[in-house]
Amino acid sequence: MANDLKKGLEGVLVAESDLSSIDGDEGRLIYRGYPIEELARGASYEEVLYLLWHGQLPTEDELTEFADAMATEREVDDDVLATMERLADADERPMAALRTAVSMFSAYEPEADVDPDDLEATLRKGRRITAKIPTALAAFERYRLGEEPVDPDPDLGLAANFLYMLTGEQPDDVAAETFDQALILHADHGLNASTFTSMVIGSTMADIYSAVTGGVAALSGPLHGGANQDVMEVLIEIDDSGKDPLEWVEEATDAGRRIPGFGHRVYNVKDPRAKILQSRLEELAANGDDKWYDITTTIEDYLTEEKGLVEKGIAPNVDFYSGSVYYQLGIPFDMYTPIFAMSRAGGWIAHVLEYQEDNRLIRPRGRYTGPESEEFVPLEDR
Ligand code: SDX
Repeated sequence: MANDLKKGLEGVLVAESDLSSIDGDEGRLIYRGYPIEELARGASYEEVLYLLWHGQLPTEDELTEFADAMATEREVDDDVLATMERLADADERPMAALRTAVSMFSAYEPEADVDPDDLEATLRKGRRITAKIPTALAAFERYRLGEEPVDPDPDLGLAANFLYMLTGEQPDDVAAETFDQALILHADHGLNASTFTSMVIGSTMADIYSAVTGGVAALSGPLHGGANQDVMEVLIEIDDSGKDPLEWVEEATDAGRRIPGFGHRVYNVKDPRAKILQSRLEELAANGDDKWYDITTTIEDYLTEEKGLVEKGIAPNVDFYSGSVYYQLGIPFDMYTPIFAMSRAGGWIAHVLEYQEDNRLIRPRGRYTGPESEEFVPLEDR
């Protein structure tokens, strides 16, 4: 009986899904049959959202209608903006601000009274959430800078529009394309902790806002979504130390320090998303500061070759390169994980909808190891 308990649900199958598949030994990721490399190279984030939510890549007309519908729903209520301002003034963490924003969206949902069993209506609500997250997040960051929020530009795609609302300037094509690619790479990834959290909430037939709020909460942990910020902080620490990166990482690992961005519950080899982001970072480095690319690859080579981590199945994951890419795009550190949430909200919504099509309340068992029969002693006698 002892070996039927799977801590962390490691390797336990709890659902069937058409959405994404990970081959941890081959380092392969597909969304509904399409290799992530093809989607990253040839599609937009809106196309990938359509693929995840509707089951096939859109035609040009379908994409235009879908993207336009999302672009018209980017505005957030003034109360949400006022709350982002108050949270920014209180120096709240961006993931907590995002969690608050998503939970507030439901107060202004035009279809609030629609039956939660109406999956089409739930999809429309999910589309509104995904359209509004970038606006609320960018506004929070603008308030932190002491600036007013920038209104969304309906003529820009979701990725370019976020960068525009963050900086007030239209991003150049390289930045917009890089960010769009990063959103594609983070959109879905099987039953990771945040997706499974959303599914558990959705399995109780709670509303989609609650499911996405739960996903944001789960992703905020450093073992899951918070690693890309930790990676960038390590790179800055190395750079500030003035030490050779090799010397630094040798000392850190000899001291037993775990390097963030390495290791994964499913991948035993390099995460295919890390490979795509690495080549993107190399392109960005060619036009800018290649310091981060050099430090990152030096650490990877050391951990892989000298420490032999990859032989142990511990290899770079998506977070190992995403931090440096966002840094090159001028995005603040603590916005990296909220950006992960911005993208993954699409995957959370897709999995909740798919699971609810043949819903079964998710309720595992635990093995009780406490005492069987204690004698109650009244308070006055204790
Ligand atoms: C994401 O699930 C997903 O799909 C997640 C994600 C997604 O798209 O949703 O891919 C996104 O979360 C990527 C992972 C981001 N987190 C980090 O990079 C944090 C650093 N990595 C780890 O803490 C760890 O690898 C986890 C949490 C990601 C996975 O943990 P597991 O499967 O529970 O594995 P483990 O922690 O038990 O580690 C197994 C072994 C250990 O060896 P032992 O000491 O137990 O013998 O690998 C070693 C660990 O010591 N190890 C590391 C290491 N990570 C694990 N050794 C050195 N450096 C590291 N970073």
